[in-house]
Amino acid sequence: MLRIWPVGMISTLDEMKNDSVPRPAFPSPVSYGALRLKSRYLLSPLAGFTNLPFRRITHEIGGVGLTTTDLVNARALIEQSKKTLELIETCPIESPFAVQIFGSDVSTMCDAAQMLETRGADSVDINMGCPVRRIVAHGSGASMMCRPDETIGLVRKIVESVKIPVTVKMRLGWDATQITAPFFAREFEQAGVAAVAIHGRTRQQGFSGSVDRSGIRQVVEAVKRIPVIGNGDVRTVADAEVMLRETGCHGVSIGRGALANPWIFRQLVEWESTGSFGPPGNFDERLALMQRQFRYREELRGTESAIIGFRKMAHWYLKAMHVRARLRHEFQLIRNEEELDAYFARLSSEGPIGGNRTGELPEMSIPVPSGPVERW
Ligand SMILES: Cc1cc2nc3c(=O)[nH]c(=O)nc-3n(C[C@H](O)[C@H](O)[C@H](O)COP(=O)(O)O)c2cc1C
Repeated sequence: MLRIWPVGMISTLDEMKNDSVPRPAFPSPVSYGALRLKSRYLLSPLAGFTNLPFRRITHEIGGVGLTTTDLVNARALIEQSKKTLELIETCPIESPFAVQIFGSDVSTMCDAAQMLETRGADSVDINMGCPVRRIVAHGSGASMMCRPDETIGLVRKIVESVKIPVTVKMRLGWDATQITAPFFAREFEQAGVAAVAIHGRTRQQGFSGSVDRSGIRQVVEAVKRIPVIGNGDVRTVADAEVMLRETGCHGVSIGRGALANPWIFRQLVEWESTGSFGPPGNFDERLALMQRQFRYREELRGTESAIIGFRKMAHWYLKAMHVRARLRHEFQLIRNEEELDAYFARLSSEGPIGGNRTGELPEMSIPVPSGPVERW
């Protein structure tokens, strides 16, 4: 077992307060039906990243209103595939939490939603935004936006099959000529959906171009009662302020920005309640957090599987920690516990480029996944 890790080193938010971001008139707290969220700042599903260890540390840092799993294949769920059951694992601190499902077969989706309700999920989210060809080709993800009657019928049936709130995550539409999210949001509200989350790009855009906040605003204006969660390119408190002010959305969902800065939810809640907010974690705090997250993964999967499974995540941590490129790359070559111990010792002694372990790190540029269709 690894030994060198202090567990709770996240305590510097009183230092270096920043109050330069004006606050908008915040809408009322966000509820999904009877489920009151802990804040309006939510973790977006990020397949391959939003596993239990990461969701757990975001709740431990605090500020996150709701966490959602990676997208889960509804059929594999009801067949109880081992890998799929791993995706829906949770722990007591992860409250509330949602599971995101995808699929296009009505009875499979309803059975999956019921199974999740029985297993204690607080909410079920339907993926209608995934642009990946493998998902779209089977009639799921973003392609559902091209078959309105069928899709609205499917969503209504899922809502009717469970008592927990059902939400939908979608893009603005298939392409710039078909901005259908406002229409769907209105229909889904009538079908009983508890909230919709909108990534402000079209399926055709993939991750290119910028988020169309006026499109998200149209969705906000299309619904009567349910909260709309704005999503896309929010990396800082200032970005969230723009999202809230320009769209009128009720909550903000953050994906890549949370990988670069898992403290962002706590910063946002502090900003909303006091007008100022502390810095994200410094080098030492990020190192402690990275080790803690690894340990959670190790507890679930054993050391060697955890090392392999943590490579993608380590890439984000080490970039955000401003570690020199060669040392970053060396994480990818680690194979066992001894090498991991030695790596963390070297990382700890070498520190960030420039050597400032306790000061604010330079802001990390957020990678755009390559290819509009093949990748997220
Ligand atoms: C690596 C990666 C995986 C993603 N996986 C999912 C997913 O499983 N389900 C989903 O609805 N969206 C997924 N998305 C989209 C994000 O939830 C989010 O809508 C998008 O990244 C824009 O928000 P951001 O700029 O805050 O990252 C993924 C995005 C990325 C980059």
